[in-house]
Amino acid sequence: MEKGVKILSASGKLGLLIPGMGAVATTFIAGVHAVRKGIGKPIGSLTQMGTIRLGKRTDKRVPMIKEFVPLSDLANLVFGGWDIYEDDMYAAAINARVLESPTLDLIRPELENLKPMPAVFDQRYVKRLNGAHVKNGPTKMDLADQLRKDIQDFRAEHDIRRAVMIWCASTEVYIERGPVHETLDAFEMGLKNNDPAIAPSMIYAYAALNEEVPFANGAPNLTVDIPAMIELAKKKKVPISGKDFKTGQTLMKTILAPGFKSRLLGVSGWFSTNILGNRDGEVLDDPDSFKSKEVSKLGALEYILQPELYPDLYKGFYHKVRINYYPPRGDNKEGWDNIDIFGWLGYPMQVKVDFLCRDSILAAPLVLDLALFMDLAARAGMNGIQEWLSFYFKSPMVAEGLYPEHDLFIQLKKLKNTLRHFMGEDLITHLGLEYYE
Ligand SMILES: NC(=O)c1ccc[n+]([C@@H]2O[C@H](COP(=O)([O-])OP(=O)(O)OC[C@H]3O[C@@H](n4cnc5c(N)ncnc54)[C@H](O)[C@@H]3O)[C@@H](O)[C@H]2O)c1
Repeated sequence: MEKGVKILSASGKLGLLIPGMGAVATTFIAGVHAVRKGIGKPIGSLTQMGTIRLGKRTDKRVPMIKEFVPLSDLANLVFGGWDIYEDDMYAAAINARVLESPTLDLIRPELENLKPMPAVFDQRYVKRLNGAHVKNGPTKMDLADQLRKDIQDFRAEHDIRRAVMIWCASTEVYIERGPVHETLDAFEMGLKNNDPAIAPSMIYAYAALNEEVPFANGAPNLTVDIPAMIELAKKKKVPISGKDFKTGQTLMKTILAPGFKSRLLGVSGWFSTNILGNRDGEVLDDPDSFKSKEVSKLGALEYILQPELYPDLYKGFYHKVRINYYPPRGDNKEGWDNIDIFGWLGYPMQVKVDFLCRDSILAAPLVLDLALFMDLAARAGMNGIQEWLSFYFKSPMVAEGLYPEHDLFIQLKKLKNTLRHFMGEDLITHLGLEYYE
């Protein structure tokens, strides 16, 4: 029997369609152009810099991931997207104040050539923003049709067969899962009736999936994390993934917490606070958008520490997350963690983390990896939720009834084992008894 999965060729162009062309999107797009020109390296990207061990440790087979699985070449990526502001990608990148002018000037023509399409936007879902570059339509279904037309035109203009959509737009207000999200029929009825529980991000996702474009969600909005979208993804045989890029403080949390738990150190409290001054920070200053982020950020520790299994160590631990909008910092966020832990006989200790990070610099490589892996998944015939991409998300989507895996190291093992599975290689269990026989 042949091992591995049949994967269609990665040759030809790959379209990347991005709703929300702000700090993350411009840093990502400018970065890919810079890498293509040899101006910088794609640091932080597993697909570009990562390796994968195959077979036994003694085999010494450790190829680059991009040489092991058939991924689209960076030269073949074509970009498009939507925003509520008309700025081209050069103006938007200058405005985002992440990359410096000398870098941006070297790729200025490529960035100036890219202008966002008018967005599907409604201020009730992102209260702190208001832009005029938006679509109008009597119903949400009509807006979805306009987005589908945009996708079709983008494909025709660039002669593209394959595309991936990655949500990099602002965090929408918190929406509870409700009846309109439960089935595709109910959702389509809701689109026609302008149901308020259908947010703009869901309209983009609906359009993408209908055009057989895989959809990854970089923000904490529900978006594709509802049964109706999972049903549509299965029906159209398209991969989906989400939600919320795991970049700064949550990345640190999912690195540190598995360490404490591995050593059976107790945690009595974890206080996390952030200051940031970019547009994302301004949007998150609104309590309803912050609520989406808070729910996404709070889950990780509970799942990693499993207080129900370790009541002596973690029962009732206090977890608080704060985000404070502080304009002088721009995109250069500061995230503090105060962690109260305890050891032998309950003696208390503290760990302090002060992460002076750059939000979009951390997010850009995740956008690239997700684009390439979502396209790989589609070519490998995968559809519905791509749990193997949990590595990239603060609040990973999983099948109904499963709990999400948050531990960064388990997530990485799962991702690499999925790649080995695709290519018919043995999965790595780390048992290793054979070396001692
Ligand atoms: N940077 C990170 O580390 C990080 C981590 C996790 C999640 N995120 C999420 O990624 C998203 C992007 O972050 P950012 O820093 O680039 O924010 P940003 O504010 O710079 O960019 C978001 C862009 O989306 C646009 N927009 C809003 N609603 C839209 C709509 N309906 N259609 C099209 N465009 C729309 C805004 O005009 C803006 O230009 C945010 O939701 C953020 O929470 C970022």
